Amino acid sequence: MRVVRDHTIPLLLDDDLLVQGENLAVLPRLPAGAFDMVYIDPPFNTGREQSHARLRAVADPDGNVTGFGGRRYRTEEVGRMAFADRFDDLPAYLAPRLVEARRLLAEHGTLYVHLDPRESHYVKVLLDELFGRRCFLNELVWAYDYGAKARRRWPTKHDVILVYVKDPDAYWFDSEEVDREPYMAPGLVTAEQRARGKRPTDVWWHTIVPTNGSERTGYPTQKPAGIVRRMVTASSRPGGWCLDFFAGSGTLGAVARELDRRFVLVDASPAAIEVCEQRLGGEATPGSRTPAAR
Ligand SMILES: C[S@@+](CC[C@H](N)C(=O)[O-])C[C@H]1O[C@@H](n2cnc3c(N)ncnc32)[C@H](O)[C@@H]1O
Repeated sequence: MRVVRDHTIPLLLDDDLLVQGENLAVLPRLPAGAFDMVYIDPPFNTGREQSHARLRAVADPDGNVTGFGGRRYRTEEVGRMAFADRFDDLPAYLAPRLVEARRLLAEHGTLYVHLDPRESHYVKVLLDELFGRRCFLNELVWAYDYGAKARRRWPTKHDVILVYVKDPDAYWFDSEEVDREPYMAPGLVTAEQRARGKRPTDVWWHTIVPTNGSERTGYPTQKPAGIVRRMVTASSRPGGWCLDFFAGSGTLGAVARELDRRFVLVDASPAAIEVCEQRLGGEATPGSRTPAAR
């Protein structure tokens, strides 16, 4: 795996790549049609937490704030921090990146977009526009059961993964290679069927990354390899290229390597790149710093 931090050199697919950088700047440097599958797990709702209003105090005898010398003021919002808009409107933030994702997919390629139920419907409308409604393949539900449970509503314990193909007449999908599950009513099927297990549906029950397992990297938003493995297995072939441009701890890279696929990972955060390097190893290109050289 080559680690790239230099943004002046071309990105050649002659080795697995780990690229540090803003994905919107990195994606145009990759060749069109090169990828069997793209998996992304973008951050969302961050804007609500990070959205800081810029306020100014205006003198007003009826204002609700009392200042120095007993003078009264009211506060007025004069704007918001620039990064807030980007995340307040997730579809607007994702749109140019999803256009690039589509360009990078091979004709037989598939896109997986990992979201949660608060955002998935907005992004689905966007993907229908960008890909066309015929290209919608699935809405996967990843259900888990971990952590505190709300009492005032149904505890939310699932994520949504939207699946779109570049060409509904040419996409690759290998359901035979995917791992199988136990039947829910094993008494209703033959012993042979029981032994083989059933093909997964669009609802996947899978635990989160175990807190003390060897898979755990410590990266806060790490996704379990088990769910990413299913996507890579079904939608790519050995030797094919997979891309994750919100790479985080590099789960897609770990799975791709295990399954003999090639990969490109992109992340803007130096901390994420460091975790990926530790997880996957790697050589830095000339001009880039390796952790050892720091
Ligand atoms: C939810 S995490 C991905 C977790 C990953 N699926 C895993 O299993 O570890 C999202 C990642 O996107 C990265 N990121 C956010 N905005 C980015 C951007 N514009 N360009 C590149 N990376 C970005 C963050 O640094 C973060 O590591």
